[in-house]
Amino acid sequence: MTDYNLKKNHRHFIDISSLSKSDCREIIEIAKKLKAEAKKQGTNGFVHQDAPLKGQALAMIFEKPSTRTRVSFEMAMHQLGGKAVVLQGNDMQLGRGESISDTAKVLSGFVDAIMLRANSHEALLEMAETSRVPIINALTNFSHPCQIMADVLTFEEHAGPIEGKKIAWSGDGNNVAVSWIHAAVMLDCELALACPKDYSPLEQVMGWAKNNGGKITLTENPKEAVKNADCVITDTFISMGDDNAEERLRDLAPYQVNAELMATAKKSAIFMHCLPAHRDEEVTADVIDGPQSVIWDEAENRLHIQKAILMWCFGKSL
Ligand code: CP
Ligand code: NVA
Repeated sequence: MTDYNLKKNHRHFIDISSLSKSDCREIIEIAKKLKAEAKKQGTNGFVHQDAPLKGQALAMIFEKPSTRTRVSFEMAMHQLGGKAVVLQGNDMQLGRGESISDTAKVLSGFVDAIMLRANSHEALLEMAETSRVPIINALTNFSHPCQIMADVLTFEEHAGPIEGKKIAWSGDGNNVAVSWIHAAVMLDCELALACPKDYSPLEQVMGWAKNNGGKITLTENPKEAVKNADCVITDTFISMGDDNAEERLRDLAPYQVNAELMATAKKSAIFMHCLPAHRDEEVTADVIDGPQSVIWDEAENRLHIQKAILMWCFGKSL
């Protein structure tokens, strides 16, 4: 008889808010260990000793474009000794109307975990409800938890433990901002957001943060948010699936991260951006390509954190 339940030690990775504080810390610590091991290797095509995910297969479904998420997950599976299968939503029967739950049930018979970059967060949740293998959120309209776990790893490498530090966000209160709100609560750091009124993060997320003791502030004044920050972050003003590009660029222009805004943060502050970036829209070239920017480490850390997320989903610790 096939067991139609998730295996006992297997877990979904849906949002940072659905992890416990200790799960969050565990994933970051696994990533640090795996990165240290990876840095002893001469190439990226290596396989970790003992191939901890040998025999495991991951399906990666993309309903939206991707560079970092796609390559980092595929290489993560390779380096852990497993196998990845990349699928474009439009090439699948999913693109012709096959239901999410039928797709999840079928794929559960072929692979051991499914990573989904979905247009709608509800589709991701439906997949998690109906799949009998772990589901990983690789970005939805609501959140981007894998990215923010990599951001936390990057912050700690450059600026030490994140607990009690001040992170500032200037720009659109989008999916990336939502996952930062979740992370700030789970990892006990301060998060100051500056967003125009109509681009504020969802009220339900702000309410969740408040109810869970988060030190989250929201202002329409970027300088107020960035003042004394240890880290300044922004993201594209036009996310995948957004329309009204012209209106967005106009409304969000005062929230651009530039040298003047960076000067209000701590002298030691770092700059992060999940990429892809649009120079001279959300951030000026002198900032993103300047000495405070850690974007290339941040991008590389997607690989190290994906490995840790996969290990955690499969119930493997180091
Ligand atoms: N930051 C990020 O998720 O990049 P991709 O869209 O290239 O995967
Ligand atoms: N907010 C962006 C992030 C891209 C990685 C988007 O959803 O398009």
